[in-house]
Amino acid sequence: MASRRIDVRAVSKDPTGQVLRALYAYASPDAGAPCTIEHDGRSIAAREGEPIALSLLGAGVDTLSRSVKFHRPRGPMCLRGNCEGCLVRVDGEPNRMACAAPARDGREVRSQNSFPSAQLDVLRVTDWFFPKQFDHHHLMVRYGTTINEVMQSFARKMAGLGTLPERPAEAPLPEEIDCDALVVGLGPVGLSVALALAGEGLSVCAVEEEPFAGGLVRDSLQWHSRDGERLCGAEASDRDLAKLRAAGVSVRLSASACATFDDGTIVIQSDRALWVRAKARVFTNGCHESVGAFGDNDLPGVYTARAAARALRYGVRVGESVLVCGDEDPALDALSDALSAVGAKVHRLTEGERLLEATGSSSVSGALVGRDERSAHKIKCDAIVASTSRTPAFELAGQAGVEAAQDLDRQCFASWADELGRTQRSDVFVAGSVAHGGRSPVRESAVARSVRDYVTKGRVR
Ligand code: FES
Repeated sequence: MASRRIDVRAVSKDPTGQVLRALYAYASPDAGAPCTIEHDGRSIAAREGEPIALSLLGAGVDTLSRSVKFHRPRGPMCLRGNCEGCLVRVDGEPNRMACAAPARDGREVRSQNSFPSAQLDVLRVTDWFFPKQFDHHHLMVRYGTTINEVMQSFARKMAGLGTLPERPAEAPLPEEIDCDALVVGLGPVGLSVALALAGEGLSVCAVEEEPFAGGLVRDSLQWHSRDGERLCGAEASDRDLAKLRAAGVSVRLSASACATFDDGTIVIQSDRALWVRAKARVFTNGCHESVGAFGDNDLPGVYTARAAARALRYGVRVGESVLVCGDEDPALDALSDALSAVGAKVHRLTEGERLLEATGSSSVSGALVGRDERSAHKIKCDAIVASTSRTPAFELAGQAGVEAAQDLDRQCFASWADELGRTQRSDVFVAGSVAHGGRSPVRESAVARSVRDYVTKGRVR
């Protein structure tokens, strides 16, 4: 596969300067020292600190893993820890998400759950032999005990993901943090809620699972206005984060809130656990993204719009010929312009058309599109960028006792909250797109006042 690295200095078709500004602000060609990682015995040129998934994608490797049962090829789809298409063994540790593991010189990356490698896995025959179903509970039972035992022992060898780590993991004691308010998720809403809470005089701990703040704003290729200036997404997010730190908020990045209880929330930051005891918890952890429903949507080469934008900003183009489609979204236009600016051929659907199927054997080689099956025609492409409506990430708030309610406007379930971000639990608040009615979000300052009232007076207004 050909290299997908972009030479930013060669970008010429960029009349607004927007693409170059975003690329340089986030991952300029000189950022990150060149380094080499090893992937399945092959040396790959990378940049220190970039996600390994992008080092591999940049080198043209888009199949990183295999599905557990049918060994169908899997590739990085979301580039933000949501899809598990990028699980690999890194330096002897199984099941690392390549999109969340940084490249470092000499790192050893191996395919797992495949033979001999994820790119060419002979166990893929399972998928071809059982195109309709594979009922592993009953298959072979009818052929007698011996065959059943052979099949069971084979299945046990093949089942599971990866093999045990080469070294036992260290388990440092968790760091304990006490604060008035814990804010989970530092997208644009989380940033402004945390800032408003600090402005109300509360001690605030804010956690974000990604190594940077800003969420969708950071990943967008559009202009944003801050303090009267036009900034690209990365610049705007960095400025918001600097304000948060200056206001005294304890910010934890690469810190994933994974379980929440009445007496504390467990957060995993890099390889260490935090135990955060907060009087109030505020969930601003946004949405899950998906590529939507179409045939073979699990093929490597299918990406969310946000993943494609993120790859671009690390200097990697997801394909040479890219179909960009999805729900109406101005970000898709900006993404299409950016992909064109870096030399990709971009295809868009005409009105009334929809994506029916991704085609290709081991990765995307085309797409079937049309109004319906009868009018379907094929587009030749090596990547599909599909954006669809996002699903609120209500699970953590649900664990805290907040009910999920049907959001008819967005056709999904979301965490129930009133216009002040209050929920059925007096100590739990939600805001932004995770909240019911997230298209007309509550004002961050109003949420902050609700939290302050609860923390200082033990009641909500
Ligand atoms: S989880 Fe890594 S690309 Fe989706």
